[in-house]
Amino acid sequence: MSINLQVIKDHDELYSRGVEIIQHQLASGATTFGLATGGTMLPLYEKLVSSTIDFSSCQSFNLDEYVGLKASHPESYISFMNKNLFEAKPFAHSELPNGEASDAQQEAERYETLLKQINLDFQLLGIGENGHIGFNEPGTPFEAPTHVVSLTESTRQANARFFDSIDEVPKEAITMGISSILRASTILLIAVGEKKRQALTALIHGEQTIDVPVTALQSHDNIIVLTDLDI
Ligand code: F6R
Repeated sequence: MSINLQVIKDHDELYSRGVEIIQHQLASGATTFGLATGGTMLPLYEKLVSSTIDFSSCQSFNLDEYVGLKASHPESYISFMNKNLFEAKPFAHSELPNGEASDAQQEAERYETLLKQINLDFQLLGIGENGHIGFNEPGTPFEAPTHVVSLTESTRQANARFFDSIDEVPKEAITMGISSILRASTILLIAVGEKKRQALTALIHGEQTIDVPVTALQSHDNIIVLTDLDI
């Protein structure tokens, strides 16, 4: 296990470090970027937008997308990415799983094939309170490729804050699998706030177990963790 753990208490400094890491990736020749959504990423994207960074010769691939939500819905992940990053910092090409595809399973297979054709140089990750990465919920085999998932009640509750009511939170999503995530050359995981302590502690100090999906990262040899938590 090779985790480069960086504890930075000051949020502004933590996110500036995140931007530096991404700039360093670009300077080192990275062209394919795996991206994430979620509250954790907002300050990072805000800083990227106001930076001089240029992704116009790079490609991006998002981790996941809700199934059954229109792309035009403000909480679809494509809307999130357009609003918070792509409109200001476009990539040459950006891919997300298509949550409107008539056959979600087939769409998951298309996305996995695409991911296998390129090799992600870099993957940005947040972490769920239950240790999920992407939408790989506890119990997901580490070998799983991109697939359709049923979201757990706790994940739907956690995401309900972005919708008018819990009933509007989709019940399924398409997510990169853990094996797809692990193929990225460098992974940057950002975990901010007490709610992420248990999951992050499991990654740093725990045994590897499918009950806490983030522990799969213990098998990767190039992980950077940025956190405000003393672990
Ligand atoms: C988002 C994603 C999720 C989030 C996680 C944390 O694309 O794949 O795994 O990273 O749910 O979400 P926040 O940052 O809202 O706490």
